[in-house]
Amino acid sequence: MDTTLQTADSEALTPDSADPLKTSAAHARSAVLEELIRQAPGQFRVLTGDRPTGRLHLGHYFGTLHNRIRLQNLGVETFVIIADYQVLTDRDIADNLTEYVEELVLDYLAIGVDPARSTIFTHSAVPALNQLLLPFLSLVSVSELNRNPTVKDEIAHSRQSAVSGLMFTYPVHQAADILFCKANLVPVGQDQLPHLEITRTVARRFNDRYGDGGAVFPRPDALLSSAPLLLGMDGTKMSKSRGNAITLAADADETARLIKGAKTDSERFITYDPATRPEVSSLLLMAALCQDRAPEQIAAEIGSAGAAALKRTVTEAVNECLAPIRARRTEYARDRTYLRGVLREGNERANAVADATLAEVRAAMNSHY
Ligand code: TRP
Repeated sequence: MDTTLQTADSEALTPDSADPLKTSAAHARSAVLEELIRQAPGQFRVLTGDRPTGRLHLGHYFGTLHNRIRLQNLGVETFVIIADYQVLTDRDIADNLTEYVEELVLDYLAIGVDPARSTIFTHSAVPALNQLLLPFLSLVSVSELNRNPTVKDEIAHSRQSAVSGLMFTYPVHQAADILFCKANLVPVGQDQLPHLEITRTVARRFNDRYGDGGAVFPRPDALLSSAPLLLGMDGTKMSKSRGNAITLAADADETARLIKGAKTDSERFITYDPATRPEVSSLLLMAALCQDRAPEQIAAEIGSAGAAALKRTVTEAVNECLAPIRARRTEYARDRTYLRGVLREGNERANAVADATLAEVRAAMNSHY
């Protein structure tokens, strides 16, 4: 894969002086990237992934999953990492790991990740990837790690009494996740932008220090999806751990029950106004995303029929949108042997790529004995 073109482009469009953490800059860059992807999908390689901590939900689906499938179907080579080591950043033990990993593979297959075109793999099964962490750690300063706002936020919400070294350094680990396969495009949510910045820094410094005038690693770009954040049924951020999410795997009845219990407000007339009516607006948005329509239009159709009618509309929209995904999920769930085969093959492919990159890194660092 030729990454020179993208590397040159990203240097030109996002110089170090610009603040890439600024969401507006990242959105502008994403629009430029969308055009480049349409013109030449073969110039890109995507890496993206999730922690295996539970089932994926609608927030994930409209936030990033949808985008991954779109890229895969546009012809962009895709790597999907199941970040099992990363589960240990904010807890002592990774519970139900085997089960959660299989659930994740099921979710991926159900939404349309195609193992013939995309590589699904588990982080801990790729030793050469993990070995990149050592040289990469030498390229970032402790104060740079200290400044990472996403890590600060995770520390604030951590279930551990003390901050582990892994919590502190996992963005560098994530840089290895991205760079081992020389991905140049990472479709993520906004909270991941600081990690992408560390990845870009690591790539640039590695190339400067060891590249001998060339580039061993591309400087990957974040691709932000335009979908706004969905709230959970209790009005706070939709999250696996808060029990407020509509999972892809939930059945139609459970979905109806969850939406029926959703928080709304005391105003009967339904309007779309995210600033003053966050809960009602998030429900409208959910229906709108499912139906690919404008939330204002759905609000206008419901009007004075009130919250009960809104919830009926949302339930129908969600269940209809997820029906084919759920049907496929049920099919795949019957064949655990196939599931494990997908993972085994994905791990094999990821290992081959990681071994080649590690060999290159060793040669660049003069540690090829
Ligand atoms: N940090 C991501 C999450 O919490 C998971 C992840 C691990 C990831 N490595 C990655 C995402 C590399 C994108 C790229 O969900």
